[in-house]
Amino acid sequence: MKIVLANKSKIGSVDFENLEFGKIFTDHLFVCKYSNNSWGEGTIMPYDDFLVSPSARVFHYGQAIFEGMKCYRSDDDSLILFRPDENFKRFNKSSSRMAIPEISENIFFDGLTELLKIDKDWVKKGDGNALYLRPFVFASEASINASEANEYTFMIICCPAKSYYANQKIKVKIEEKYSRAAKGGVGYAKAAGNYAAQFYPTSIAIEEGYQQIIWTDSNNHKSIEEAGTMNLFFRIGDKLITSPTSDSILDGITRKSIIELAKKENIDVEERIITVDELLESSKAGELKEIFGTGTAVVVLPIKAFGYQNKDYDLPNIDDSWSSMLKKKLMNIQYDKSSEYDNWKLKIN
Ligand SMILES: Cc1ncc(COP(=O)(O)O)c(C=O)c1O
Repeated sequence: MKIVLANKSKIGSVDFENLEFGKIFTDHLFVCKYSNNSWGEGTIMPYDDFLVSPSARVFHYGQAIFEGMKCYRSDDDSLILFRPDENFKRFNKSSSRMAIPEISENIFFDGLTELLKIDKDWVKKGDGNALYLRPFVFASEASINASEANEYTFMIICCPAKSYYANQKIKVKIEEKYSRAAKGGVGYAKAAGNYAAQFYPTSIAIEEGYQQIIWTDSNNHKSIEEAGTMNLFFRIGDKLITSPTSDSILDGITRKSIIELAKKENIDVEERIITVDELLESSKAGELKEIFGTGTAVVVLPIKAFGYQNKDYDLPNIDDSWSSMLKKKLMNIQYDKSSEYDNWKLKIN
């Protein structure tokens, strides 16, 4: 790997207490290019703008995918990646779906770990603090021919983050007109265009007073899928229900971790289709106790109300919240405060 270091670090000019997510990046990035049917040598270089041809296929056909993961700092100053093998697998799964060549484990992990060693001072201690890592790949070949590219660029950039919506509860709207993903489509991939397609319907929901959308199936908008960049969990009676992953739902790493942690607490978890009707009935019957979202950005985010057909349904305030209990358990693992699930942690020294 080639390494070119920045002359001077920007870290002194960053206000870590008042970070706006996704605006500030560390001093370095990792880049590796694909051409002539193979990936080349990776390089770490100072974070900066770079040249891409206006005809690069990514601009015209959206051939691009990404991952989102976090690096945490433990009390004893270890840097910890949470289940990065899962991000790596999903990265290649997304790539395959978008006809992008897969990347080797070596390029992905060497890039990540070397970058983290160089920019380690950007990983701050404290609950909620993390360095958000964004590996992505895009079709960089200069050609507007509407077919998959022959040249790609893989990069990793990093930005310091606090948790999204810290200590807040959000209000979500159940969507009945627009869809995020369809059967046979690319919903299970972290394809860049999936996110662009959400912006317009989400902006309408925000105007209506919600923060996020609960997406429903694209056939008849009856079964619940996921929300924004979160998978969803519903506590109904004494059960915790989450939709099964499918080709229209992202297989969230936080989701699968929460399922495991909940089962360990002897919570009865059901992975099955949950319909809007079931949600409304359980809410009316007083059986619906909690809804929460899970994802790398938010960890676990409680929902205070949902809107459906211009009516809002409030969630009750409860003392024995499963979302706070599970969030705490998960964060204790991520920050290495608990020695459980050591196989979920990759320590970088
Ligand atoms: C559409 C979507 N659903 C769910 C998630 C949650 O996935 P994870 O827990 O792996 O971050 C994300 C975020 O990556 C997402 O983009």
